[in-house]
Amino acid sequence: MFASESDKRLEAFGESISFDHRLYHQDVRASIAHARMLARQSLITQEEFQQIEHGLLEIEREIEQGKMPFRAELEDIHMHIESALIQRLGDVGRKLHTARSRNDQVNTDFRLWIRDALDHTDGLLKELQKAFLSRCEADFDVILPAYTHLQRAQPVLAPHYWLCYVEKFQRDRLRLADCRRRVNVCGLGAAACAGTTLPIDREQTALELGFEEVARNSLDVSSDRDFALESAFVLALVAGHLSGWAEEWILWSTVEYNFLKLPHQFCTGSSIMPQKVNPDTLELTRGKSARVIGNLQTLLVLVKGLPLAYNRDLQEDKPPLFDSFETVNACLELAIPIVEQAHLQRQAIANRLDQGYLDATTLMEHLIVRGIPQRTAHHLVGTLVGMAQAAGTRLADLTDEQLKSADDRLDGSLRDVLGVEKAVKAYRSYGSSHPDQVRFQINRWREQLQ
Ligand code: ARG
Repeated sequence: MFASESDKRLEAFGESISFDHRLYHQDVRASIAHARMLARQSLITQEEFQQIEHGLLEIEREIEQGKMPFRAELEDIHMHIESALIQRLGDVGRKLHTARSRNDQVNTDFRLWIRDALDHTDGLLKELQKAFLSRCEADFDVILPAYTHLQRAQPVLAPHYWLCYVEKFQRDRLRLADCRRRVNVCGLGAAACAGTTLPIDREQTALELGFEEVARNSLDVSSDRDFALESAFVLALVAGHLSGWAEEWILWSTVEYNFLKLPHQFCTGSSIMPQKVNPDTLELTRGKSARVIGNLQTLLVLVKGLPLAYNRDLQEDKPPLFDSFETVNACLELAIPIVEQAHLQRQAIANRLDQGYLDATTLMEHLIVRGIPQRTAHHLVGTLVGMAQAAGTRLADLTDEQLKSADDRLDGSLRDVLGVEKAVKAYRSYGSSHPDQVRFQINRWREQLQ
């Protein structure tokens, strides 16, 4: 039908084997399931199925051993495996593609690959959660300043900080799990776009491949990449969480903060400044999130305005998603030991807890309990903070006279609630940093993550 051979430049332009070779295992699995179904439906014989299965497993082994040369003229992994099979089996190999198109084949392979990848990333996220949780006991009595607007706000226990990240990554894991449900739908049998006239059994292939559902609409599923976009989104959010954490710990490891010493095996030195210990791993974690976020954008733009059903544009869906998984996994693998091994500078933190009036809000709430309206209490404590700032002291250092000068109702008994230790113990609300609340949450996570 073609009047001429294709231009040589199209080969290099159109190949996807350089990246979709990653799908070889999924392609073999899906082809075996498809062939088994063809045999059950008497579209091929049982003997032919056995030859095909045997051939495919051999080809898989060859690929694993690096014995299959990848060639641009065979375009993609699907053609490589099929032509290797035909080379072995001749006409029997030519039957594998019965009732199938590369359109539903690539969709199926990609879903199988993403399903495994989601599970792997979920495992890494769980390890990272455990790393944060593992610090909670040893750091239990450390009080840290919590910040809003990067200004000192209120005191919290260090494990309250650690569990904050456990919560964020838990939401990411729930998102992964939810996304997995939509990944786990079988499109095999949609063929090119409209289904097939041959008597296939889609339930059977779906079941063998562990899919939970069979796609209801052949046009939809063969054009659908929502599952890839959703995965890219969840990964972008994970990368964002990692980036925020990295930024925080970069700050915390500066001389200015001096909250943390990072494990040196994840830092680098400077060729000119001998004293430097640079937090490169954290900086790269922050930096690489840009690419992961960009990959989501790439995919969103890729599918925008594509007419139904399969279009070759969709071949471009794989590099961004492969990159997002690889990048996020690499960040997670390094985040885990950094979290486990970073050293809290307890003394340096404690020495400066009196700075920044972390107990001001507790004092205000104490005045509320004494019957002073919130707005008035806020104003009064603001006045006291101003006085203390002018004198260069803590709230607890204000004299009885100074307290009284702000308002008649204020006296020396207020000192009973001042200081960060008392402030932390004064919290009452669910989810607060009161030691009992934090203890409760630690135990809850222990049970959940074991
Ligand atoms: N290499 C293609 C891809 O990855 C395979 C599907 C090609 N289908 C087609 N009708 N040309 O999307």
